[in-house]
Amino acid sequence: MTSLPADPFARADAPDSMAELARRAAQALHTLGVTEPEGFTQAPGRVNLLGEHTDYNDGFVLPCTLDRATMTAWARRGDRRLRVCAADADNDVAVLSLEAALPPDAPAWARYVHAMATVLDHHAPGRLQGADLGIAGNVPAGAGLSSSAALLLSVGHALAAAAALDIDPVALALLAQRAENEHVGCRCGIMDPLVSACGAGAHALFIDCRTLQHRRVPLSPDIGILIAHSRVRRELKDSAYNDRRDACEQAARVLGVPALRDATLESLEAARRQGRLDPVLARRAHHVIGENARTIVAAQALDRGDLRTLGQLMRASHDALRDHFEVSVPAMDRLVELMQAAIGEEGGARMTGGGFGGCAVAVMPVSRLDAVAAAVAAGYRSPDGLPAGLLPVRPGPGAGTWPGLAA
Ligand code: GLA
Repeated sequence: MTSLPADPFARADAPDSMAELARRAAQALHTLGVTEPEGFTQAPGRVNLLGEHTDYNDGFVLPCTLDRATMTAWARRGDRRLRVCAADADNDVAVLSLEAALPPDAPAWARYVHAMATVLDHHAPGRLQGADLGIAGNVPAGAGLSSSAALLLSVGHALAAAAALDIDPVALALLAQRAENEHVGCRCGIMDPLVSACGAGAHALFIDCRTLQHRRVPLSPDIGILIAHSRVRRELKDSAYNDRRDACEQAARVLGVPALRDATLESLEAARRQGRLDPVLARRAHHVIGENARTIVAAQALDRGDLRTLGQLMRASHDALRDHFEVSVPAMDRLVELMQAAIGEEGGARMTGGGFGGCAVAVMPVSRLDAVAAAVAAGYRSPDGLPAGLLPVRPGPGAGTWPGLAA
């Protein structure tokens, strides 16, 4: 899309190709004195098309990978230390040990590297060895596009490769989730690491978050995906996210089901009539039950390339997230309305990710992308007067090894 500015909501200098990312990762490794990487690994960020706040309710989600990723250039060490250089943090260097806790003065990004190394070390006792890592990424950070899952999986693949460990993608995704839950302190669900690990170019991934079974849903080149950043900072996100999870767990207990995935609108209605379910919990559960049903239908609609149905489901999802789950904000609602009006009936828009700001996602015929982007650029301003950041995406490859500098 020639009409868009280079990269309005990521770092101004973010490189836009995987080859460039590999070059920067190799350069970061060079900073550590290693001139020849032994290998490269990459993992993409994600955007969720449908199925919000369903993953931790054992439900269904329909995300796709981004064509933006975190690249790691790696080289083995003979000891159990990790020396890591992050290109995107001004070539900041952290020295970590597989034998020791995270140093208190370690930079924030190093917590993820240490967390992933720790869970891998527990997973395969005695197998992991030290490594030098150069890391470079272009997934916008802090925008709800899973830059943290991309970092965890890219590093996870690098450490596994350095130790010649063969770990299947679902197992690696579970390890990344554990790293974030237990060592970073965020109770996020399985969606982000699983789609980064198992997603594929030109596809969305329909995931059953209970069984972790997943299937690829084709996204033809005729389908355009546009992400728009509301420029609203997601300040409440951690406390409100945990609060929503607690509410869902409470509602499931009252309804007598293992998770809201097992509840129905009928059982919800009955519990409400009998005064057994507090109105707030009932609204939260209503969203989750409806969203699971919508996500199943959305995957089938995408299979047929039926953007009209997908659009209706996306609109219904946004309405429920705003009115029942209450995780949208007024600026996001305006942004979504603007996108929806510009798209018309052949597609849809909604908030995406945990909520309280962050990004909206829109799906439409690719021929509408420029017009929709232009409408958002002209019509949207954040509460601080900022225009939306615009990012058209094509699903990129799932996490794994990367052929190297020549690729
Ligand atoms: C965040 C979490 C995900 C998921 C979404 C909401 O992105 O990391 O696991 O719960 O919120 O759908």
